[in-house]
Amino acid sequence: MKKNVISRIIIGGLLFSGICVNAQKTTLEVDASKTVTKIQPTMFGLFFEDINFAADGGLYAEMIKNRSFEFDKPLMGWEQPNTKRSSMNQESGSASPMKLAANNTNFCRVEIYNDKGYTLINEGFRGMGVKKDAKYNLSLKAANHNGAIKKIIIQLIDKDQKVIGETSIVPKSDQWTNYSAQIIGTQTEAKAKLKLTFEGNGIIDLDMISLFPEDTWKGRKNGLRKDLVQLLDDVKPGFLRFPGGCIVEGRTLSDRYQWKKSVGNVEERKTMMNRWNVEFNHKQTPDYFQSFGLGFYEYFQLSEDIGAEPLPILSCGMACQYNTGELAPMDELDPYIQDALDLIEFANGAVTTNWGKIRSDMGHPKPFNLKYIGVGNEQWGPAYIERYKVFEQAIKAKYPNIIIVSGSGPSPKGEHFDYAMKELKKLNAELVDEHYYESPKWFRENAGRYDNYDRKGPKIFAGEYAAQSVSGANPNNRNNWECAFSEAAFMTGLERNAEVVQLTSYAPLMAHEEAWQWTPDMIWFNNLQSYGSANYYVQQLFSTNKGTDLLNITKDGKALIGQNDLYASAVKDVNSKEIIVKLVNTAATSQEVNIDLKGTKLGSKGTLIRLASASTQDENTFADPKKITPKQSEYKITKGKQDLNLPAYSVTVLKLKMN
Ligand code: AHR
Repeated sequence: MKKNVISRIIIGGLLFSGICVNAQKTTLEVDASKTVTKIQPTMFGLFFEDINFAADGGLYAEMIKNRSFEFDKPLMGWEQPNTKRSSMNQESGSASPMKLAANNTNFCRVEIYNDKGYTLINEGFRGMGVKKDAKYNLSLKAANHNGAIKKIIIQLIDKDQKVIGETSIVPKSDQWTNYSAQIIGTQTEAKAKLKLTFEGNGIIDLDMISLFPEDTWKGRKNGLRKDLVQLLDDVKPGFLRFPGGCIVEGRTLSDRYQWKKSVGNVEERKTMMNRWNVEFNHKQTPDYFQSFGLGFYEYFQLSEDIGAEPLPILSCGMACQYNTGELAPMDELDPYIQDALDLIEFANGAVTTNWGKIRSDMGHPKPFNLKYIGVGNEQWGPAYIERYKVFEQAIKAKYPNIIIVSGSGPSPKGEHFDYAMKELKKLNAELVDEHYYESPKWFRENAGRYDNYDRKGPKIFAGEYAAQSVSGANPNNRNNWECAFSEAAFMTGLERNAEVVQLTSYAPLMAHEEAWQWTPDMIWFNNLQSYGSANYYVQQLFSTNKGTDLLNITKDGKALIGQNDLYASAVKDVNSKEIIVKLVNTAATSQEVNIDLKGTKLGSKGTLIRLASASTQDENTFADPKKITPKQSEYKITKGKQDLNLPAYSVTVLKLKMN
């Protein structure tokens, strides 16, 4: 970074006889009378993947890890500190008469024989976040053999074992019965645990031991974490892509994401290993599983809640090519294709259809109005194109209006990318997903990436991107300011090319402070707090100021793609009647700019929103979550050109009211 700045100053010195280049004023011309293209409402969206504890342990507000004892090690997450005399068994197998459901065969058998010290403790997802005076809803299933156990005392305990909330239940039946109770937190604690103590002697079976905060997003029972959804909602995303990412593909085909297993009764959704659990040596998380409590119904509902077009991505019969690359043979693709067709029926079908009825029974008789479906995530090579063709044919035959997202592989350049683009073009693919995890410098240097893309070719979905401060998938990557403003510089290029780039999303979306596998991430959280990174605020600025009509903004007739370290894009918003100019200064010094706006009359006032920080290494953190956040001020419109000072390393959004 420093190196660049020095060389630029020297060049400036040569050209301008010793005058620092930054002293010059850059004039930018904007013609407000000519709409280049309409900006799609989907322009800036969100990419959700269950990586970094984003679903279980994150967005899905369940506080109990391994609530149904279905992890590969059935007692993972559960401690029995005083096991001297008591015993605890887990029974499994579809033959067991006590199993809850075909997909939920394990349960926990507790045997108490005059053992007053026996306790069963759940550790939560790296602890449980408990807030003083907040309510927590407990539920469990129990079968109390011969009425042996008289009472179960359920307590929240802090890190020093102190009780910080308590309730109890009296299990009455020897058949599986649901019990519920409420606990009120008496203290705020980030590392709470849930402790069960038993009164009486004998055997009791337990399953689906669950604890949710009452205060969830929209107050939904056993719903989503409110603070995290609020952060998503605040972006005003145009779409929500789910469930990934490589999680779609699985390491092998058998552990791909199968949406049908994620709908219906929560207790019947089969828990499985999360493919990110031991993917990276740098961050092993063997306790990472998918309960599918946040499943496809909940994703559709979330998309609807936050006003985003749902964008599901499905397996195309290819397991992750970074892992096994296992392929479903071409003549065995039918179940995969059927999954795609059935998903469209689940989302959009009438309540009289099979899958439409399941959606309706779950509480949403109205269709979700699904418009997009993705075929494969990050596949490459001829095997992908071959499979894509079959999917495309089948989907279009039944649902001609559904827009199909195809993929161009894991990289924005190179052999795989070139091959995919060439083939997808030949097939008239509608929307091609591109991924780039590159250096901040790459982002600055590629702001012109789409300037020469064929306007008649496939539209582009920049479906996963993020500047990597060290290198792709490196555990030392930071969400630093240099990464964020470099993405902003690049995003002016996305916006300027809205004719071809129609959907874009940063990736990954969120990460648990103590349980992440991949960094950088847009949102960081622990069990009590969450914050948006500087990259989050860049996304939010662009999304909430995307306007409706793209305008040209040029310097000497050319797009601004890094000349003097400046980047710019401009739009008009016909609803708010504003001209919105986005300007990014990636230089280490401030710069003067003036905007020569033609083709409209302006009012007297505007708004200036600025995101800036002094050091390229600055970041938002749990200790200082608002260090880099947008600051808004009034902007006085002048007659003629609009003058602006752009501080070093800054992203500026200037909103000018039209008369
Ligand atoms: O975002 C993390 C991973 O990066 C995604 O799962 C995958 O699609 C990409 O390689």
